[in-house]
Amino acid sequence: MRNKITIVGAGMVGSSCAAWLAERELGDIVLVDIPETGDMPKGKALDLLQTGPVVGYDTRITGTNSYADTANSDVVVVTAGVPRKPGMTREDLVGINTRVVRSVASQIAATSPNAIIVLVTNPLDTMTYVAFKASGFPKNRVIGQAGILDGARMRTFVALELGVSIENVQAFVLGGHGDEMVPLVRFCNVAGIPISELMPADRVAAIVDRTRKGGGEIVNLLKTGSAYYAPGAAAAEMVEAILKDKKLVRPCSAYLDGEYGLKDIYFGVPVVLGRDGVEKIIEVALTDDEKTMLQKSADLIRSTMSVVPPA
Ligand code: NAI
Ligand code: 2OP
Repeated sequence: MRNKITIVGAGMVGSSCAAWLAERELGDIVLVDIPETGDMPKGKALDLLQTGPVVGYDTRITGTNSYADTANSDVVVVTAGVPRKPGMTREDLVGINTRVVRSVASQIAATSPNAIIVLVTNPLDTMTYVAFKASGFPKNRVIGQAGILDGARMRTFVALELGVSIENVQAFVLGGHGDEMVPLVRFCNVAGIPISELMPADRVAAIVDRTRKGGGEIVNLLKTGSAYYAPGAAAAEMVEAILKDKKLVRPCSAYLDGEYGLKDIYFGVPVVLGRDGVEKIIEVALTDDEKTMLQKSADLIRSTMSVVPPA
């Protein structure tokens, strides 16, 4: 039996995620968008299908405006909503995207009751919480994508700074997907060598700052929306880890029930990703400074959650 992956929102992140997933041949892909977009999802799906013979993949990709076509998906990636424009924070999107994510999550729950939801819509941690509540799914089956992208940005900046392969660079970014995210310098290394041994403290600080503002840097360059290649690839990595039951350790936004001293919040922490979604949350001992930064990041999410319109 082939896996079925639905991507809700056939926009920039959704279609980029579909392209990365198609190449991995993980299962059939359904792109769904609102009726107002007409045949757009069908057009993108056909274009991606016709890429198969060139790139060499055999993935079936279809587009639709109907959730009936998404029924019984194994994984659903949610990219539906509005991206930010220059001058906007991710938090500015809360009103409109809450309405979108609520409606999407309840339709997924009705049509794919056993799916795992990978949430991408911003403001990420709050929208993942909204999807968790609206779907009624258990916490392990609703996961937010942020830390893979934020970590990839930090890895890129370290590799550029040192002139080394990105393959050698490991980085770990925890906390909320906002400008108060917490790049953990202590765990960032090049082939096992801590970056503090390889560059001066002011360069490390500059990389931390650029990582935190990495999404905004791209918004300011694009001017019409936000990043999509790396976000799409990051979500695809999560889907692969789930469908292949890889037990992959990555920072993801997961529901916390006391872990890291936080309760009833979605927050970026290291998790083990497998066929049951978040199979484990890994708790690492943090320094007092790191705890303070994580608390500040959690406070920002709580303030965003406080403006979520009532259901
Ligand atoms: P986009 O505007 O290109 O695509 C969004 C799509 O969602 C549109 O095609 C729109 O028609 C569709 N949509 C709106 N309401 C819908 C509904 N009720 N049901 C189904 N589809 C619906 O935007 P883009 O660039 O793809 O970004 C999507 C979201 O992902 C934004 O909220 C953005 O902020 C977020 N994002 C999150 C990242 C992360 O790391 N978590 C990274 C990049 C973007
Ligand atoms: C990003 O980090 C906007 O959340 C999006 O690129």
